[in-house]
Amino acid sequence: MERILVTGALGLVGSELIIELQKKYGKENVIALDISPQPPTFEGVSVVGNVCDWELLKTIVDRYQVSQIYHLASLLSAGSEKNPDRAWNVNVGGLKNVLDLARDKNLRVFWPSSIAVFGNTTPKKDVPQHSSFEPVTIYGVTKVTGEMLGQYYYHRYGVDFRSLRFPGLNGTKAKPGDGTTEYAIHIFYGLVREKRYTCFLKPDTRLPMMYMDDAVRGTMMLMDAPVENISVRTSYNFSAVSFTPAELVQEIRKISPDFEIIYQPDKRQLIADSWPETIDDSIARNDWHWKESYDLEKMVVALYEGVKERVANEQK
Ligand SMILES: NC(=O)c1ccc[n+]([C@@H]2O[C@H](COP(=O)([O-])OP(=O)(O)OC[C@H]3O[C@@H](n4cnc5c(N)ncnc54)[C@H](O)[C@@H]3O)[C@@H](O)[C@H]2O)c1
Repeated sequence: MERILVTGALGLVGSELIIELQKKYGKENVIALDISPQPPTFEGVSVVGNVCDWELLKTIVDRYQVSQIYHLASLLSAGSEKNPDRAWNVNVGGLKNVLDLARDKNLRVFWPSSIAVFGNTTPKKDVPQHSSFEPVTIYGVTKVTGEMLGQYYYHRYGVDFRSLRFPGLNGTKAKPGDGTTEYAIHIFYGLVREKRYTCFLKPDTRLPMMYMDDAVRGTMMLMDAPVENISVRTSYNFSAVSFTPAELVQEIRKISPDFEIIYQPDKRQLIADSWPETIDDSIARNDWHWKESYDLEKMVVALYEGVKERVANEQK
């Protein structure tokens, strides 16, 4: 039986991935680790700690006989810019710890990269798997480094490192943070609370996005794929839908015709401008049969229902 460690478990991705992993492997076989002391939204084994603490990671892996690590703990794009040193230590140092443990204990590793690996020299449309990587953010720099490190550990030590370049992910099980693509979740809180939202990106900023259920499903598909199907050991291009704030608003107005939007771009606009609009993920589709199940219309309904429920629970 697999024993799974999920780091960064209380975050946007972790809180949804944990539930699916628990369904598949059993609650007792999924261990959650996060630096945040807040109580988890899920039941099961939970540890408070820092992924930069090698001894702690080693103790958890030994105590629970861990066989796979889903290493999600990270600072995101905007948070990394506020503290680049910390971003380097957590994003690169934490991954190095995980890879060293994977090498020593023969663990399979999932680690998410991001569309933030791309930069101004990357083509804007249908970015191919092998492209130009000149990110302008420290977050992107840590993600490019992580991809190279993972591939190095695969070639040098045989570590079964698997990774996806996540687009902007939209889910409702955890509170959204200050990420550049997260306007697409905050907008639903604006919709539910006051039928208006002030958007920090321009209306025509097209970015690759994905509903969280698809991201979780794709992650588990990649981790379950036979080893001979994995042809990419940096990180797979991984995509579902691309839309602009204006297109999202148009879709939201089908639910709420009088929804108001104000555009006040802030410094995240510069980050968004350095990222691609659409991604070619045909290698993931060929290798392990990736296919999204949420288009924009379906995602908007799911996000609206999810945020409505969250806000109602907050008010109880
Ligand atoms: N959310 C997205 O749209 C998106 C897009 C691309 C890539 N990703 C990647 O997916 C992963 C998860 O993202 P998320 O959206 O869930 O982020 P999040 O910010 O919601 O969650 C990250 C979690 O990591 C924890 N954490 C931070 N530093 C830690 C440390 N030193 N030790 C232990 N835990 C620590 C935080 O407390 C938080 O709960 C990250 O690697 C991120 O770069 C996310």
